[in-house]
Amino acid sequence: MQSFSETILSWYDTYGRDLPWRRTRDPYAIWLSEIILQQTRIAQGQAYWERFMAAWPNVEALAAASEDEVLRLWQGLGYYSRARNLHAATQQIVAAGGFPDTLAGIRALKGVGDYTAAAIGSIAFGLPAAVVDGNVYRVLARHYGIETPIGSTAAKKEFTALAQSLLPADRPGDFNQGMMDFGALQCTPVAPPCAICPLAASCAALATGRVDSLPVREKGAAVQTRRFDYVYVRFRGRTAIRRRGPGDIWQGLYEPLVNDQRLKSDAHDGGGIPRNPLGRCAPTAFDQRLKGATLLKSNVKHQLTHRTLLVDFYLWEPTEEPALPEGYIWIDEAELDRYAKPRLFELLLEALP
Ligand code: ADE
Repeated sequence: MQSFSETILSWYDTYGRDLPWRRTRDPYAIWLSEIILQQTRIAQGQAYWERFMAAWPNVEALAAASEDEVLRLWQGLGYYSRARNLHAATQQIVAAGGFPDTLAGIRALKGVGDYTAAAIGSIAFGLPAAVVDGNVYRVLARHYGIETPIGSTAAKKEFTALAQSLLPADRPGDFNQGMMDFGALQCTPVAPPCAICPLAASCAALATGRVDSLPVREKGAAVQTRRFDYVYVRFRGRTAIRRRGPGDIWQGLYEPLVNDQRLKSDAHDGGGIPRNPLGRCAPTAFDQRLKGATLLKSNVKHQLTHRTLLVDFYLWEPTEEPALPEGYIWIDEAELDRYAKPRLFELLLEALP
């Protein structure tokens, strides 16, 4: 009988997905794919990867780009610190004279954690490092009947040790990618097609009726809700935007007028905050002058990884040029395309009459 690892490899040889970054050993191309795929599914990620590779085909090219350009191409993927780290890491690599080829060297790149270092190391350099992501947890928890709740430190240790012990020395990158694909296509979260599974005969979960209950999940932390208003100001063909600073979501991206007390702090729980004409926090002098704004959409719900945003969209067309709050600049409306924006700002633009 084939071992677990042999089965994963032969399954991968037949059913593994044909992806462009699998046709290369270029560590830059592979690294880029891993950073993008932390953020999105393959279908969407592939288009981003192709655009990045076309714009910046190697580390030197990406290092020479401006942060604004990188954020603009990243737009829509969310979690913009990933794009900033990616860009910063290119400068680390260029300064070091080339892409690191050891696990420790790869792990030292900005934005690269254990998972990404193992993925890049094994795929690009054949280093013996097992990846452990959600797919790997699921496949191993089911096949070996492991009930340790995933998300705990104990689980990370246990599953990493197990995956590492299964890793075939001659094909670590293929095994890792085989595990990812096997989890995505065969050992799926819901209703996996166990009848056609090549590991069915040795699967503990299948034998004991636990396919639906494994892996065991730890209770997640509560998601916070933040409320604020987005105000699109239009004055003689111009609008006002501001670049967001460090220390919060969307660093480096541009935003419209916003009641930034609400964006600065996570303390608001979404309820029990007093309302003023344009919001729910204490009105500022600027808020008072926004009373003539038109409400376009209320309670637009926008989900981020760790927060739910509830936002009201306004259009404000003042008759006299207003003084802008700190940090804002006037730009021609036609130039909005040139600025990297969070998806939420695009939704505001789409809501404009
Ligand atoms: N998700 C993250 N990295 C991946 C890879 N190399 N192949 C498939 N899915 C992935």
